[in-house]
Amino acid sequence: MDQILTEKINQLLRQVSLIEILRDSQKVVHRGGNQYLVQCPFHGGGGEKNPSMSVDDDKGLYKCFTCNEDGNIIKYLRVAQKLSFKDSISYLGKRFSIDVSDFFSSKGSKKAYIEKESKRINKIAANFYGKNLLSKNDEAYKYSNAIDYLKKRRIPFEIIKSFKIGYAPAYWDLLTKSLQKKNIKNSSLLALGLSKTKNNNRLYDAFINRIIFPIINENDEVIGFGGRSIDNTDPKYLNSKESFIFKKKFTLYGINIAKNAIMQRDNVMLVEGYMDVVALHKMGISNAVGTLGTACTEYHIKLLTKYTKNIVFAFDNDDAGIRATESAIRIALKENVNPTVSMPNEVKDFDEYFMHHTVEDFNILYELRISWYDFLINNMLKLKDDSLEFKVTFLQKMFTYLVLINHNVIIDEIINHIGTRLSIDKNSLSSDFERYKKGFSIDISHKKTSYTDTKSKEENASEYIEEKELIYLLIVNPNLITKCEEHLTLEDFNGKIAEELYIKILIANKAKITTDDLCLALDNKHIKEKVNSIRNNPMYTENVEDKIELAITKMRQRSIKRKKQKIIMDSQIHNILQGDQDIDKLCISINEIQSLNKNNN
Ligand code: UTP
Ligand code: MN
Repeated sequence: MDQILTEKINQLLRQVSLIEILRDSQKVVHRGGNQYLVQCPFHGGGGEKNPSMSVDDDKGLYKCFTCNEDGNIIKYLRVAQKLSFKDSISYLGKRFSIDVSDFFSSKGSKKAYIEKESKRINKIAANFYGKNLLSKNDEAYKYSNAIDYLKKRRIPFEIIKSFKIGYAPAYWDLLTKSLQKKNIKNSSLLALGLSKTKNNNRLYDAFINRIIFPIINENDEVIGFGGRSIDNTDPKYLNSKESFIFKKKFTLYGINIAKNAIMQRDNVMLVEGYMDVVALHKMGISNAVGTLGTACTEYHIKLLTKYTKNIVFAFDNDDAGIRATESAIRIALKENVNPTVSMPNEVKDFDEYFMHHTVEDFNILYELRISWYDFLINNMLKLKDDSLEFKVTFLQKMFTYLVLINHNVIIDEIINHIGTRLSIDKNSLSSDFERYKKGFSIDISHKKTSYTDTKSKEENASEYIEEKELIYLLIVNPNLITKCEEHLTLEDFNGKIAEELYIKILIANKAKITTDDLCLALDNKHIKEKVNSIRNNPMYTENVEDKIELAITKMRQRSIKRKKQKIIMDSQIHNILQGDQDIDKLCISINEIQSLNKNNN
């Protein structure tokens, strides 16, 4: 138990009376002074004739000479009254009118102390890095390589100051030594990821020859660091390891500076990288924050909704960025946010964008930002597949987003829009959506039969093995669903059953969802039985992330293979129908196959 709590308990014990409580139920004989003999509650059903338990009310201790039970008032409440430790404390507080409200709050507790101390150390480290960057020998900057790098990245001085950007020089242990001199313990340096050690020998700095971006929370506390290598050392960015005070899934880079602008403009730009946040701010777009390259989580969105409900996703314009955006949209919709998307054109990210563009260009681009559903539609249309099957798959995916929206008016509007863009009759689209929704709620009987019907086909076919494996891995390890969602799209599924299950898993997914919650949501006896038989099996609990990654890779390979086969089939049909003349179409098919191959590498 931590020291502060022990001290509080001792103080409480000095203010209460054991004898007063024992009197409630037991016979008490006063022997003089603070000494009593009490009918022992612990043996003979608590009803002995001659009291044999001796109590010192000053010390607050009891001992029975018959059954040897002894202890203090808290032990008495626990053993005789079956109160939990916490309840014993509250009981004593009430009974003796003592304020115990801060007993278990983190205020003043050890946890709060460590938190405060960690932030203090990080602040010292941030100052250290900041001073290094700007330190001079005579007139010249001491670390001109770092200054040159920032110049090359066109980061102005005001931004360096406001973001407290710093530099970790190319020495082994400058920071470590400096903090050790300030009597900061090695264990703290290691816990915060500021220093490292091999085999518990000497400590050395975690960040060496890197530009340092202190990560500062909304209360202006330094909770971690990101370090950009300036000499092509891998990794490109090194982040503080996750610690008691630094968890990436809760953290948005730049929130300390951006929060006011987000509130004033009632809007936030969410980007991926440190450099993108910094680039937007330098152009005066100060309502920008970054997810630090991780998937956008519900906590990120919740943090933002404290300031605004209008989130513009502005992730990298590449495959990973597009996937990340699609998954972030789903999370935003779950949180009742209206997301829009603005992706930089022809460049990867907003840092690169501002190498060639002005703020006026940006304003135009920003005005052209699109709704989340246009973003999904555009991505689909890029694949240039006008088969009915493809359209249906897309609509199925679209419905998984639409079900997250609470307002029918909005749903109708979106359905109208989809109808117009894809030239589909709006009424049949609406009724399809209704059918889809029903499929979700009345799935118990209907889905079960469809499951058993197709079971033999889908369950056992080797081409579905990974899909099945993936579903079970996710059910047993629900904490990985969000990460999986970032890497997997519905198009990667071949089996309809696995796809349906996966969609249900995504919809059910929320913070701290458990395996049991999922089984309940899936409502399928077969799955439940299987999950119960595998949930403690190392095959499903060890190296899970690797296994999921492998399953996704295999599924994607198969999906690409299917697409290729389809293209070849189509082109063969062209050949049969129109002889050999339609060479153009064949060339297009070959191009498509080549681009699929490229994406696969
Ligand atoms: P990117 O790879 O898109 O880099 O990572 P970037 O932001 O464009 O970097 P520059 O412009 O080359 O400097 C986006 C974000 O992902 C995280 C970082 O937060 C980065 O800003 N990341 C990236 C890492 O944490 N580690 C890495 O090795 C790479
Ligand atoms: Mn970049």
